[in-house]
Amino acid sequence: MTDLTASRHAHERAQQSLAGGVSSGLRAALRPHPLFIEKAQGSRVWDVSGSEFVDYAMGWGPLIAGHSHPDIIGAVAAVLPRMQMLGMGHALEYEAAEAVLAVVPGADRLLWSNTGTEAVQTALRLGRAATGRNRIVKFLHSYHGWHDSVFASVAFHEGGEAATPNSAGQNPNAIKDLIVLPFNDMAAVEHVLAEAAERDIAAVLIDPVQSNSGLIAPAPGFLERIRELCDRHGVVLIFDQVIAGFRVALGGAAERYGVVPDLSVFGKAIAGGFAQAAVAGRSDLVDAVTRDVLHAGTYNGNPIALAAVKATLGVLTSPGTYEELDKTSALLEKRLTESLSNVSNTFTVRRIGSLLTVAEDGTASDQKLWPSITEEMVHHGVIALPTGKIFVSTAHTEADIEQFAAAVQPATASAV
Ligand SMILES: Cc1ncc(COP(=O)(O)O)c(C=O)c1O
Repeated sequence: MTDLTASRHAHERAQQSLAGGVSSGLRAALRPHPLFIEKAQGSRVWDVSGSEFVDYAMGWGPLIAGHSHPDIIGAVAAVLPRMQMLGMGHALEYEAAEAVLAVVPGADRLLWSNTGTEAVQTALRLGRAATGRNRIVKFLHSYHGWHDSVFASVAFHEGGEAATPNSAGQNPNAIKDLIVLPFNDMAAVEHVLAEAAERDIAAVLIDPVQSNSGLIAPAPGFLERIRELCDRHGVVLIFDQVIAGFRVALGGAAERYGVVPDLSVFGKAIAGGFAQAAVAGRSDLVDAVTRDVLHAGTYNGNPIALAAVKATLGVLTSPGTYEELDKTSALLEKRLTESLSNVSNTFTVRRIGSLLTVAEDGTASDQKLWPSITEEMVHHGVIALPTGKIFVSTAHTEADIEQFAAAVQPATASAV
């Protein structure tokens, strides 16, 4: 059994100064308690007890090249002695933007932000400015950041098209302009978008693979039909690819599904583990920030994170990267499916690119057993998120996959 004593003590101490002992509320769900890490490299982390783990949380998505990839750390280290943050222009702003735009189909302009939450807000603002309308279509259970205006109908939903706030303290007025529709429900989307002008609909905000709610691929023709209806009814189509970006394909959902949105939001994997997000899309929409749309942020475009973006894109565009990543991810899907089906038939393993999800009884919105299984797995030296999401990186090896498969079987047997 893996020793977690020092991590447990660190968490107890952290709770005295940090609310819940964590820096992001969702991390409190980690079982048996959040781990406190001393060192991380490649696919592995070592906690303060000195225990070693194969990591499939991967920073909750960003670490697509593993922990501390030498190219990414090297690029950041090269910038640090020269500059820290500027609030002025520097070459990495456009070099990193050029690297991203070169791989994202249909995107010719970009804005930098620090987090996905901020970038989603910017994209919505651009959509509203372009159309002069206010309402936003979003999909049931999809997460688009913690902001008042979109954190609704994620974990729970009261029914109908009206959004349900999901946090105490949220301004209920901020979500009044949301229209919530079931994902992959073509008829519902057709019905609502046909009345887009009368209903004041500015944009459709969609995570094309529902990465936070079961990892559901878009039904054949679903994205295409939304694209067509948005064009016909003057609605801006926004793909939230904060998780899906660089994971479902190098060029994201537009590359994988052949449907080009007007705007995309990227975050997480774009900077390989540094804080950076972006809105990328049609220049006629994005350039509104040069006129009357405000896009601001003290730390926007900071050279540290942009050195990381450029280096991450360098890693991801090197020949064979996606073939290898796909091979490792497919092996994990296979081995995990085998291991889970040996002990229980309540689980479905889904995979799109290097993003996997273990869904219970077909959905991932109501995980019952999986969180206990992840708790058991920690004792076998494997970290997986209780939400069911599993992130594979270029640093994971076949041996790492086998360690996961070997841990999941006894863990499931004792948890079921
Ligand atoms: C699809 C999606 N959109 C937006 C966000 C918000 O990004 P951030 O946590 O960087 O604010 C997330 C975060 O998990 C996400 O998964």
